[in-house]
Amino acid sequence: MAPSGPRPALPALLVLLAALLPGPGDAQTSVSPQVVILPRGGSVLVNCSSSCDQSPFLGLETPLTKREVLPGGNNWKMFELSNVQEDSQPICFSNCGGRQSTAKTFLTVYWTPERVELAPLPAWQPVGENLTLRCQVEGGAPRANLTVVLLRGEEELSRQPVPQLGEPAEVTVTVLAGRNDHGANFSCRTELDLRSQGLELFENISAPHQLQTFVLPETPPQLLGPWVLEVDTQGTVVCSLDGLFPVSEAQVHLALGDQKLNHTITYGFDSLSAKASVKGTAEEEGTQRLFCAVILGNQSQETRKTVTVYSFPVPKVILSEPEVSEGTEVIVKCEAHPRAMVMLNGVPAQTLGPRAQLRLKARPEDDGRNFSCSATLEVAGQVVHKNQTRELRVLYGPQLDEKDCPRNWTWPENSQQTPTCQAWGNPSPQLKCLKDGTLALPIGKSVTVTRDLAGTYLCRATSTRGEVTCEVTVNVVNLPSPQYVMVIIALVVTAAVLGTAGIAIYLYNRQRKIRKYRLQQAQNGTPMKPITQATPP
Ligand SMILES: *[C@@H]1O[C@H](CO)[C@@H](O)[C@H](O)[C@H]1NC(C)=O
Ligand SMILES: *[C@@H]1O[C@H](CO)[C@@H](O)[C@H](O)[C@H]1NC(C)=O
Ligand SMILES: *[C@@H]1O[C@H](CO)[C@@H](O)[C@H](O)[C@H]1NC(C)=O
Ligand SMILES: *[C@@H]1O[C@H](CO)[C@@H](O)[C@H](O)[C@H]1NC(C)=O
Ligand SMILES: *[C@@H]1O[C@H](CO)[C@@H](O)[C@H](O)[C@H]1NC(C)=O
Ligand SMILES: *[C@@H]1O[C@H](CO)[C@@H](O)[C@H](O)[C@H]1NC(C)=O
Ligand SMILES: *[C@@H]1O[C@H](CO)[C@@H](O)[C@H](O)[C@H]1NC(C)=O
Ligand SMILES: *[C@@H]1O[C@H](CO)[C@@H](O)[C@H](O)[C@H]1NC(C)=O
Ligand SMILES: *[C@@H]1O[C@H](CO)[C@@H](O)[C@H](O)[C@H]1NC(C)=O
Ligand SMILES: *[C@@H]1O[C@H](CO)[C@@H](O)[C@H](O)[C@H]1NC(C)=O
Repeated sequence: MAPSGPRPALPALLVLLAALLPGPGDAQTSVSPQVVILPRGGSVLVNCSSSCDQSPFLGLETPLTKREVLPGGNNWKMFELSNVQEDSQPICFSNCGGRQSTAKTFLTVYWTPERVELAPLPAWQPVGENLTLRCQVEGGAPRANLTVVLLRGEEELSRQPVPQLGEPAEVTVTVLAGRNDHGANFSCRTELDLRSQGLELFENISAPHQLQTFVLPETPPQLLGPWVLEVDTQGTVVCSLDGLFPVSEAQVHLALGDQKLNHTITYGFDSLSAKASVKGTAEEEGTQRLFCAVILGNQSQETRKTVTVYSFPVPKVILSEPEVSEGTEVIVKCEAHPRAMVMLNGVPAQTLGPRAQLRLKARPEDDGRNFSCSATLEVAGQVVHKNQTRELRVLYGPQLDEKDCPRNWTWPENSQQTPTCQAWGNPSPQLKCLKDGTLALPIGKSVTVTRDLAGTYLCRATSTRGEVTCEVTVNVVNLPSPQYVMVIIALVVTAAVLGTAGIAIYLYNRQRKIRKYRLQQAQNGTPMKPITQATPP
């Protein structure tokens, strides 16, 4: 090759000019149309012509399927190019007088993408985290005129050209997920804009994907429940959490040990509360794990607590005999759970523990006396109580005490009275008070006292344990009748009124005489003097 420099370049440039510029007498090749845009797989007619006067040799150089459309003209030929799959530049050539000239036509193939797809979204997207939307576009040409639009519903989030390279081509956009994105449909759309080429705007849209966003706070749920639970009793467990979105999608899992609890959920505006009842069973005795999880989206918040399931039978009060005769010795025992502490009638056992006892000689006062055994047990730091009470029956009597059956009644005639007499004993004695062996004293009933009621009655209390008797006397006294008393009161009042009136009249008359005397002195011309001096000596 020639050494480098501007000089050797000159001949090459001249050759190029000779080829491009028509020299005098030089024939030229032309092609029509020079620029074609056609759909993929389409056909086009290309007219190659020459300015040559003589019959030129015309041809079209292309790898495409071509067919000459007959008849052509003297200096032109028509070719049909079919099934054009991609961009191509066929070259028309003509030979005129041993000289060849060429002309290029530019074929641009267009087609809409074969696949437009939004990559699957996460099933659940936490609010406040970035979400990347990916749109994949397969095919489509010309890429220079192909745009991808990412959409939330109808709203355009981003508009980007499709990269020239890459199959499928991917366009991404990152959005910050919010609460209002919950339930929103995301999609992407391609736009092949060929309007400047006299064609239209071709749009293809992907299938929509619905997004679910959620908020699950960082705090664990609050778990309330019984921390000690007696076997065969029920307790209520409540698990709650605030600040959830969307609260209706939140789920709760509640379990005691391996046993799933059946709960009911109450929803608030952004909170929920799950309630379940737990039952202690004998198999679960000991410490059990109470577990609550609130599940939202693909996350969960959990709380664990321990529940102690215990059994604590009621302490027993054992009476050596529940029913004894007066004077018998009775042993009262109190027995409870081996780990419990008992108190019998409020008195702790001498050796602190689950047993206590006391002895007593049964007295009538002990009939109906209650013996109570109360036990306390410590379970997981909590003290639980239980008690049992039994009643002692003492057989005694019958008894007729003067306190409850007075021996002497003195009642005014015609007054209302209720004779009372109470006989004591277990079993309850029968009581009858009779005068002359036939007339009964109406015990416990209100009666009008008459002379007939007076007399001495023999009261007899009878039970299976024997009988006792006493005498009760009723005295009836004659007091003035109420009408008589009223007449006396009326007379006394009248006398008092008359007496008072007499004194009043006397005083009035005396006063009047004094006034008259003073008036006379004034008329006699004597000057007015104090009354004391005016009084005559
Ligand atoms: C092809 O081109 C030539 C030269 O421009 C013209 O004379 C001829 O009519 C064209 N043929 C057709 C079929 O249009
Ligand atoms: C793309 O849209 C065009 C019309 O704009 C349609 O003819 C073509 O079938 C669509 N392509 C796909 C893959 O849906
Ligand atoms: C929840 O889903 C997100 C997005 O799909 C993921 O990044 C995260 O690791 C998931 N979290 C859990 C606990 O599975
Ligand atoms: C989300 O992405 C933007 C940039 O796209 C970044 O500035 C922001 O810090 C990201 N936010 C989170 C929470 O990751
Ligand atoms: C299509 O692409 C061509 C070539 O890059 C460009 O000249 C033309 O302006 C584009 N048309 C549109 C509508 O973008
Ligand atoms: C999203 O699409 C689903 C069905 O594809 C429809 O039921 C729902 O209403 C749409 N959501 C919105 C916000 O348009
Ligand atoms: C849970 O509750 C439902 C209805 O209240 C009841 O039909 C079902 O038997 C319960 N399941 C258990 C394990 O208790
Ligand atoms: C003993 O208990 C019974 C029932 O618990 C009660 O009716 C009775 O009055 C009690 N006796 C005493 C003396 O407190
Ligand atoms: C005994 O138990 C009953 C019921 O369990 C309770 O109401 C009562 O207060 C208890 N008595 C004592 C003294 O603890
Ligand atoms: C009963 O009472 C009356 C008057 O109160 C008295 O005079 C009489 O002596 C009493 N009788 C007896 C037996 O105590």
